[in-house]
Amino acid sequence: MIEMQRLGCGAIDRSHIGSHVELNGWINRRRDHGGLVFIDLRDRDGLTQVVFDPEHSAFDEAHSLRHEDVIRVRGAVRARPAGTENPRLKTGQVEVEALELQVLSRSEVPPFPVNLDEDVDEGLRLKYRYLDLRRPRLVRNLTVRHKYLKAVRDFFDANDFLEIETPVLIKPTPEGARDYLVPARLTRGSFYALPQSPQILKQLCMVAGLGRYMQIARCFRDEDLRSDRQPEFTQIDVEMSFVEQEDIMRLMERMMIQTFESTLGVTLEKPFPRLSFGEAVRRFGSDKPDLRFGLELADAGAIFAGTEFAVFKSTLESGGSVIALRWPGGGASSRREFDAMVERAKEHGAKGLVWIALGADGVKSPVAKFLDDATLARLREATGAETGDAILIVADKTATAHSVAGKLRLDVAERADLRDPKAFAFCWVYDFPLFELDEETGHWTFTHHPFTSPAPGHADLMESDPGRARALHYDMVLNGVELGSGSIRITTPELQQRVFRALGMSDEDIQERFGFLLEAFRYGVPPMGGMALGVDRIIQIMVGESSIRDVIAFPKNQQGRDLMLEAPSPATKANLEELGLRLTGEQR
Ligand code: AMO
Ligand code: AMP
Repeated sequence: MIEMQRLGCGAIDRSHIGSHVELNGWINRRRDHGGLVFIDLRDRDGLTQVVFDPEHSAFDEAHSLRHEDVIRVRGAVRARPAGTENPRLKTGQVEVEALELQVLSRSEVPPFPVNLDEDVDEGLRLKYRYLDLRRPRLVRNLTVRHKYLKAVRDFFDANDFLEIETPVLIKPTPEGARDYLVPARLTRGSFYALPQSPQILKQLCMVAGLGRYMQIARCFRDEDLRSDRQPEFTQIDVEMSFVEQEDIMRLMERMMIQTFESTLGVTLEKPFPRLSFGEAVRRFGSDKPDLRFGLELADAGAIFAGTEFAVFKSTLESGGSVIALRWPGGGASSRREFDAMVERAKEHGAKGLVWIALGADGVKSPVAKFLDDATLARLREATGAETGDAILIVADKTATAHSVAGKLRLDVAERADLRDPKAFAFCWVYDFPLFELDEETGHWTFTHHPFTSPAPGHADLMESDPGRARALHYDMVLNGVELGSGSIRITTPELQQRVFRALGMSDEDIQERFGFLLEAFRYGVPPMGGMALGVDRIIQIMVGESSIRDVIAFPKNQQGRDLMLEAPSPATKANLEELGLRLTGEQR
């Protein structure tokens, strides 16, 4: 009997020449050529060319093979004839001469070509995700994800962390989104909530004395979806006892450096730059600055201190800010392009936008008459703009002016192609405000979550001047994306209660929702802190995808639907009766 080796379709190379192999896989392509049938056979790892010649019994059947049929072939590995090698393919030096063919399953014509790397409507891809996942790009993404998570677990294991699984049927854990509720059959009228994060449970692990916790944790948040958000997503969730902010930031930075090295072979620059929240907003107009490029914002308040231009004058008189920004190469833009930029600014929340084109043939601007040479010279200096560039200026309440200018900074970077898609620019942002004003309700809400400790000396501001209270809260940012957040936690029942009250909760409410936590804090609590990083976002940036859906095996679409499973779906009458539920109102 001939010795037969079963190999993956991506595994065959010159070292196998002369040996007999068995391959299993899908038909990626069939070509009939010069009296021979050529098949590219595909599995998760790659492609191998299989050749059938008319001498063999399998030849006729090979003729009938179609895309995505599943076959088993046995045959002999040989070098491809000179001149027919394919240098782009790992297996491109060899081919398998088929001796035996077994058709294991036939495929209908797939709803989109699986074997071409072309854009396919995402709805179709998600409905037939099992076909989409046959494509090499998604296989690569899932492989990077697997390797990365393995590296993460290895890192924490080596650093004495325990991976602890926390339950999914729990009580609401506030992280600022809506909860997914699950009706409880055995306690009619009551509901479990799915965790927005394991936050409370990991804190209770610290009360339990478990010291160093980590979990690759699934979280559930019912919120408006975007390209970087899914209703369920995965966190690298971490909590530690007897530590300070600095300890956690250092450990998480070390983790990132090590896992990027082992997954991608990329050496990250260290230490990661650190910016206070205030500095990040002043310099970059964002608490998640993209540091792949410079383009810092300039406060032009002093430059326009004596201006006659009514918009800037009144803004400055009422305590607002005038913020200027360089648009590299923007000086040659047409009137229409500037108008489009003004529209962008309005979409970002601005009332208007002043532009100044520093063209080779002179300066143009709708407010040129207010711009004398001294003003222009100071603006050039403040923004770094040169002839050929443009300067954009926003006047508004300070926070709005920064936020609009920060978004325009990204627009300008996009147009001037300043963002290196291969770069990894990490930074830390720290010293966040504890609370922020909810524009809709006019109430104070937490910036991070209600378990975050005020900064030393800031607790009393919670009652006297909530907007000025700072928190021991830090974010890790990569290429302008918030990868993760963490904080030092409150560990005394009194302080925790004061935060809940500052957020407008009544004492009964506090007792009902968080009584168990306040009670736990009465039995010996270590100081603690931690952080959670979004796995989907990390992998998305690692592999350079524009949507996190492309790094998740079975994601939901923008409407939160799984198009393959057709979930969510209506409950049966029997389901509802058993749960004691009745539907009211309109159903969609
Ligand atoms: P936070 O709410 O900031 O912190 O979440 C941490 C990180 O999780 C990721 N993330 C998401 N990813 C995809 N889809 C979503 N809908 C989504 N929401 C959040 C982000 C985010 O930075 N318990 C705290 C952490 C702590 O304090 O230890 C928490 O969950 O990358
Ligand atoms: P107006 O006085 O409304 O005709 O505006 C004169 C110029 O100032 C126009 O180019 C507007 O786009 C611009 N502008 C108006 N409001 C603002 C603002 N808040 N910040 C910057 N520019 C503005």
